[in-house]
Amino acid sequence: MSDSFHAVKLNDRVYWVGAIDWAMRDFHGYATRRGSTYNAYLILADKVTLIDTVKAPFVDEMMARVASVIDPAKIDYVISNHTEMDHSGGLPVVLDRVKPEKFLASRMGAKALPEHFALPCDITPVEEGGSLSLGDCSVTFVETRMLHWPDSMFTYLNEDKLLFSSDAFGMHVASVERFADEIPETVLEYEGGKYFANILLLYAPLILKLIEKVGKLGIEIATIAPDHGPIWRKNPEKIVEWYAKWAAQKPTRKAVIAYDTMWKSTETMARAIEQGLVDGDASVKVMHLRADHRSDVVTEMLDAGALLVGSPTLNNGMFPTVAELLCYLKGLKPKNLIGTAFGSYGWSGEAVGQIAEELEGMKVSLVAETIKAKYVPTEKDLAACRALGLAIAKALPAK
Ligand code: FEO
Repeated sequence: MSDSFHAVKLNDRVYWVGAIDWAMRDFHGYATRRGSTYNAYLILADKVTLIDTVKAPFVDEMMARVASVIDPAKIDYVISNHTEMDHSGGLPVVLDRVKPEKFLASRMGAKALPEHFALPCDITPVEEGGSLSLGDCSVTFVETRMLHWPDSMFTYLNEDKLLFSSDAFGMHVASVERFADEIPETVLEYEGGKYFANILLLYAPLILKLIEKVGKLGIEIATIAPDHGPIWRKNPEKIVEWYAKWAAQKPTRKAVIAYDTMWKSTETMARAIEQGLVDGDASVKVMHLRADHRSDVVTEMLDAGALLVGSPTLNNGMFPTVAELLCYLKGLKPKNLIGTAFGSYGWSGEAVGQIAEELEGMKVSLVAETIKAKYVPTEKDLAACRALGLAIAKALPAK
C-alpha cells in the first residue's frame, strides 16, 4: 500500500484518514473553487472503528492513511453517518478488504445503503440516542434526519467530547491544514456560509431545532469533526453560532441584484437600481449571471434582506440563466426577503412578469413595482430605476 499518504492525529486515539480533492470544482452543480476534502476518521479504541469513507476514486488514498497507523484488517467496526456517495462510495471496497465485525448506520441509512451498492455484509441499524461500546470508550448516535438526507446522523465519542457531524458544520475547502484554527476566519466564514447556503438552506428551520435539541441534551462538544473541510478543535461554538445566524436568515440592509443582459439595457437598469440603493444607504452586490455562478448568488443572499432579479425578454420568456437561478432558489427556499423584478424588452416583454411570479411563489415580498424599459432605457426609465432602488432601501430594516 502506498506510503504517500499519512493519517493526521486529532488526539491519542482519533485520526483523520480522509482524502483531499484538490481539483474538484463542481459538487453536483455547486461551484467549489477551493476543492474539498472527504473526511473519514479512525478511532483506535479496543474495537478499532472507522467513521465514514470517501468518494470512490479516493479510497486508496484513504486506505493508505489508515495503513499509516494500523493494519486496515484490524478495523472492527465501520460506521456510516451518511449515505451520499461522497462518503459512502468507498464502502464496498472498504467492507470487502476489512471484513469488519460490525457495519452500522442509522435506520434510514440501513435502508438506503443497499439501494446504492451491493454490500458484502449486513448492516446493523442503530437507534436514535443509542450507544455502542468500543471497549475503552463509547459512541452515541444522534439522528439528524433531513440534515440533509433522511439517513444523516451524528456519532458522538463520549470520552473525548468529539462530534463526528457528517456534512453539518463542513465546507468545501481542500487544504493540508486539517484544523479550522490554521485557516483564516474570513475563509471559514465565507466557505462555511457557502456550504450552508447551497446544501442546507432548505432545512434552516430543522437546524434551529437541532441546535436546540443538542443544547437540551447537555452534551459538551470539545471538537467538531465534519465530513468536509477543517476540524474544529478550538472554539467549536464559532461554527455553531454561525449556523444559528445563517439559519435565522435575519434580513439586513444588503440587496443582491442578479441579472442577465442582451445589449446592456437590463445591465444599465441594474446599475441605476444599485445607485438608488446606495443613495438609500443600503449595501448592494450586483451579480451578472454569466459572470457569477448561481451558487455564489445564493451565498451572497445568506446575509441579505432584498433580492432584485433582472432579465430582458428573450423568445417570449426570461433568459435561461435567470430561469436557472430562480429554479435553484425555489428549491433552497430562502426566507425573509423583499424584492422585485426588472428588465428591458423589445415587443412582447413577458420576462419581468414571469420573474415577479416566481419571486412571489418563493414568498419574496414584492415591496416595489416591477419596471420594464422598451429597447433602451430612457432617462425617465433610469430615474424610475433609481427610485426603485431607493424604495427598496427604505423598506429594508433600519441599521
Ligand atoms: Fe457530503 Fe451529503 O454529502
